[in-house]
Amino acid sequence: MEAIRAEGLTKQFKDVLAVDQVSFVVKEGEIFGFLGPNGAGKSTTIRMLATLTLPTKGTAYVNGKDVVKESDEVRKSIGLVSEKMILYDRLTAYENLRLFGNLYHLPSKRLNEKIEEFLKLVDMWRWKDHRVETFSTGMKQRVNVIRALLHSPKVLFLDEPTLGLDPQTTRAIREFILKVNDMGTTVILTTHIMSEADAVCQEIGIIDHGKIVALDTPRNLKKNIKSDDVEIIEVEFITLFTDMLNTLQNTHGIDKVIQLDANNLRLHLKKDFGLRSLMKVLSPWSDGIRALNTLEPTLEDVFIKLTGHEMRDQASKKAKKSFAGAGAHRF
Ligand SMILES: Nc1ncnc2c1ncn2[C@@H]1O[C@H](COP(=O)(O)OP(=O)(O)OP(=O)(O)O)[C@@H](O)[C@H]1O
Ligand SMILES: [Mg+2]
Repeated sequence: MEAIRAEGLTKQFKDVLAVDQVSFVVKEGEIFGFLGPNGAGKSTTIRMLATLTLPTKGTAYVNGKDVVKESDEVRKSIGLVSEKMILYDRLTAYENLRLFGNLYHLPSKRLNEKIEEFLKLVDMWRWKDHRVETFSTGMKQRVNVIRALLHSPKVLFLDEPTLGLDPQTTRAIREFILKVNDMGTTVILTTHIMSEADAVCQEIGIIDHGKIVALDTPRNLKKNIKSDDVEIIEVEFITLFTDMLNTLQNTHGIDKVIQLDANNLRLHLKKDFGLRSLMKVLSPWSDGIRALNTLEPTLEDVFIKLTGHEMRDQASKKAKKSFAGAGAHRF
């Protein structure tokens, strides 16, 4: 069964084409990630699927129902965690969840059990009788995600659920999403954090300027760029010289030069160019080079290869892998 089918979904805001002919399918039980930079059209796509805004063109079905013609049906079968937090500050965590649960007319006992189960899962049970206004953003978001799940929606939409949260909450929310998915909920989440998409999603749609540029499993996306004859190298410098940077940028055989920080560059080499040629190019500055590592491609590399630009994210350093057991090449 399909949980979502979008066909040519398009949204035009006056002179901004926010979403441009987006088509994709999410199978029931999947975690699907929408990955893209700021302004790519992620939230607008989610808003159309969640019936909060009408498509300009195209159609979409959620749980087999048309988001325009059967919007009431769609709404009943989805949960939404949007960029805005929907909780009453003056009420406790428990009171908030009771209140939202009552809107769905859930039997009282069942609702209480559910609230307890979920609050325990996100490690918030001991805070249940505290007012939301005393919570950190991370604690509020844990309750906010539960709020969207009380009516057991078949599909859960999460728009940047971990944006700006501390690492501990981010982890807790990720684990919770995985558990909820295990219980049978299909999850669609948007993010611009590559490592998040990589860690939780079975299928990823990369979106840039309103268009889907790739649609596949994280594993295949990364595998494809490897077989596309790209080699990823990170170079660590003691000092990064401008003339060296210029030389690298103008070397035929180096597709991309990404400056990670003051001392690190990430390079996309054409495979036939190779490490040996790179070392030759770098030889005038060899005293300033600390290490050179070949790395496994990350989704960041996939994004850059597909769009020609960076997503501006620090996550790419994660996949660092030392060169062939012997450690890094040292000059
Ligand atoms: N209500 C609106 N009126 C006009 N333009 C809008 C509206 N909502 C979004 N846009 C524009 O549509 C484009 C896509 O926005 P959207 O919010 O969908 O992107 P996003 O991928 O969610 O970005 P972010 O990562 O910043 O949340 C942007 O150029 C945005 O300025
Ligand atoms: Mg958004």
